[in-house]
Amino acid sequence: MIFNIEVNQKTIKARKGDTILETLRRSGISVPTLCNMETFTPTGACRICVVEIEGRDDLVPSCSHPVEEWMKIHTHSPRVIHARKTIVELLLSSHPDDCLYCIRNGNCELQDLAEQLGIRERRLPMVKTFIKQDPSSASVVRDPAKCVLCGRCVRFCKERIGISTFDFIGKGMKTLVGPTFNNQLNVSNCITCGQCIMVCPTGALHEKDNISQVQHALQNPQKYTVVQISPTVSVSLAEEFNVKPGRELDGLLVATLRKIGFQKVFKTAFGADMMVLQIVDELMQRIENKTLLPMFSSDCPAFVKYMEEYHHDLLDRLCTCKSPQQITGNLIKHHFARQQKIKAEVIYSVALMPCTAKKFEAQRDENTHRGISDVDTVLTTRELARLIRLYGLDIQQVAPELPDSPFAIRSSAG
Ligand code: FES
Repeated sequence: MIFNIEVNQKTIKARKGDTILETLRRSGISVPTLCNMETFTPTGACRICVVEIEGRDDLVPSCSHPVEEWMKIHTHSPRVIHARKTIVELLLSSHPDDCLYCIRNGNCELQDLAEQLGIRERRLPMVKTFIKQDPSSASVVRDPAKCVLCGRCVRFCKERIGISTFDFIGKGMKTLVGPTFNNQLNVSNCITCGQCIMVCPTGALHEKDNISQVQHALQNPQKYTVVQISPTVSVSLAEEFNVKPGRELDGLLVATLRKIGFQKVFKTAFGADMMVLQIVDELMQRIENKTLLPMFSSDCPAFVKYMEEYHHDLLDRLCTCKSPQQITGNLIKHHFARQQKIKAEVIYSVALMPCTAKKFEAQRDENTHRGISDVDTVLTTRELARLIRLYGLDIQQVAPELPDSPFAIRSSAG
């Protein structure tokens, strides 16, 4: 059922069953949110989205309140703005003042809210929180001091990933979001998929930054630095650098990486072709032997960890083939090293990947042979963008180049 309501003295259309926030957004009226996530059940936890409704004494959270026919709503009245400002000031009163050094500086929802609401001074006294970072995971860093208790990671991990690594711990002023018993992430059931990072509004959860290791290797004349590029990285990078659709970003990226100092630039897609051949071979054998079927195959390390954590009974159904990242890494350290007459330990191999779980995969014991890792460091697309900016390069201004042989070609079968 469609009906009219009044918002900021204008009539707009509303649909029965929608929340106030959905109605406002459909009409192009913007209200800030923090704990709200589209397609998830609203919790009304942060109350940043409050609006004033004529005839009601209290302010109501628009994300969780259904719209009704009689409503006359004010989204930016002085009372509403004052309430939102007070909430953000309270959050800032226990938030570290290290924005300049924070990995999310310039990409932080709390910073944006403070900016939007014109907060230019600390009116509430600082409540210092001494909670240490947890850098124990190979992929995800947890910094509880920066958590605003919005619960987005808790809900995403539980409702979308289905594993509930995070939950609220403690009560009142001592409430935290963390793994069970506030354990370190490396001993929790985290599968390192990094989806909590995607939904975290601040720097409370962020990917492990490995840029400095790569820089050291690039500056070390004893090292032969090699990089492999996952095909999916180019697409996200094009978005990050506003490259127009249709431009051949792969070639621009290859040229940029050479300018940064990598001696060889390879394609992970070559490893994907190897993977497909091996998967088909293994499947054929299982079908012929009528054993261990159905066979599950995935090059996603988070999926493999999920199976290890939750489906021991199905582990023998997993394809034993390595992922394209690890196949390419292994070929670089062994086949390519032999071909070039370079010692494997001299090669520093970097993988550019779209996912934090790939960092975890590269550090698994199975992917190290006689103390030499197939892949030394994995950088996510975000880190790659930072690396390119660090070297002052404009990806749009370089002339495209081809990747290096022997891992330059691909069939796209992968
Ligand atoms: S966004 Fe509505 S209560 Fe948090």
